[in-house]
Amino acid sequence: MAKMWAGRTDGITNKIADDFNSSISFDSKMYKQDIEGSMAHAAMLSSCNIISGAEADRIIDGLHGILEDISSGALSIDENAEDIHMFVEQVLTDRIGDVGKKLHTARSRNDQVALDLRLYLREQTDEIIEKTVALIKTVTDRAEENKGVIMPGYTHLQRAQPVTFGHHLMAYVMMLLRDVDRLRDCRKRMNVSPIGSCALAGTTYATDRVFEAQKLGFDSICLNSMDGVSDRDFSLELMSCISVLMMHLSRFSEEIILWSSWEFKFIELSDSFTTGSSIMPQKKNPDMAELVRGKTGRVYGDLMGLLTVMKGIPLAYNKDMQEDKEPVFDACDTVKMCLDVFEGMIATLTVRSDNMRKAAQKGFINATDLADYLVKKGLPFRSAYKVSGQIVAWCIKNGEVLETLTLEKYKEFHELFESDVYEAVDLDVCVEKRISRGGTGISSVEEQIEYARNIIRE
Ligand code: ARG
Repeated sequence: MAKMWAGRTDGITNKIADDFNSSISFDSKMYKQDIEGSMAHAAMLSSCNIISGAEADRIIDGLHGILEDISSGALSIDENAEDIHMFVEQVLTDRIGDVGKKLHTARSRNDQVALDLRLYLREQTDEIIEKTVALIKTVTDRAEENKGVIMPGYTHLQRAQPVTFGHHLMAYVMMLLRDVDRLRDCRKRMNVSPIGSCALAGTTYATDRVFEAQKLGFDSICLNSMDGVSDRDFSLELMSCISVLMMHLSRFSEEIILWSSWEFKFIELSDSFTTGSSIMPQKKNPDMAELVRGKTGRVYGDLMGLLTVMKGIPLAYNKDMQEDKEPVFDACDTVKMCLDVFEGMIATLTVRSDNMRKAAQKGFINATDLADYLVKKGLPFRSAYKVSGQIVAWCIKNGEVLETLTLEKYKEFHELFESDVYEAVDLDVCVEKRISRGGTGISSVEEQIEYARNIIRE
């Protein structure tokens, strides 16, 4: 059958060329947005007297029917169609006759596809924000439960200073809050309407782009028609936001994997979020976390893919841009799945606070506090640091720890030591004393929790 655009050519294309050219297998995802966009377009055409009110009504009615039928499954999308835009228009004309052919007045598929994609990604952005907020809530709740649970804090993956598990979890909440902020910001620039840019240069019809934009919930319109049809920054920005979000989930995954290993045993994942091995009966594998970490690479690939597609395209629309959809759809679908899984995994994990404390007791993570003790007694920090280092070295050699070293021994290293040194190196005291804002002390973690809850309540 000849294409709807048959004209200069007979519209009869080679089957291989057709298959190669067709985007319906992936852009049919946007059928709802395509139809809603067309309804607004018909309404605008009639409000500007470009078509009659009766014509617009018939078109909009017809479009309603198509939307319902696709949604219910009564109308299946023809995989042989060129794209979703052509499919909807063809069905409309089949159903309501020649008046359907008036719908494409004062628009082009170039502004139509840009419109559909913005509408589709706007919804996706909202869903991703919603799921991120759900994860923030869960992680914050777990942080509150664990605001007094002491564990070693690490640098270079070496035990460094005591922190609470609550504090550690709230670090991820801060990252996720920035992700939400970034997504909201990205949505602002996405929510600008390209429709009415037409093929590239605008139109001679007296259209009302603002009317159409408002009907579709946009904040404003693209002010340059060439940019309107060729801009894909909104997809790139969304994928950038998603990439950073995935990077956060991936780091979190890495810790979940470490913590649930036999070497750490800081947490135990729920059976419902782990898998077994087909050969090793003792295994309980953190596959969900590993997959999230793995899928991060895939999302980065999506972003790099579109950046590379866009980098050499002259203005305005070029067919290369049809390659914009699959990566961004994949990034959205992937991050949504990851967020759901992550939320469930965090909500159901068991915290092994006994093991966390044990690990905190053995790594001299209170050595900084020992130095600070001497500083408070009047020694300059550098000297105090040196004395503490010598004590740690002696303890390691002799199988001792700071908590139980005798006062006599302490005094051998410096005469400033007194019996209150034991309080200074007590792990709970070390944590409690870190009252600086943003520190691991309980009041600081409570402040962080309140901050997070206030933001997501908005
Ligand atoms: N399927 C096309 C795409 O996704 C729609 C736009 C086609 N425009 C054109 N001039 N061929 O980009």
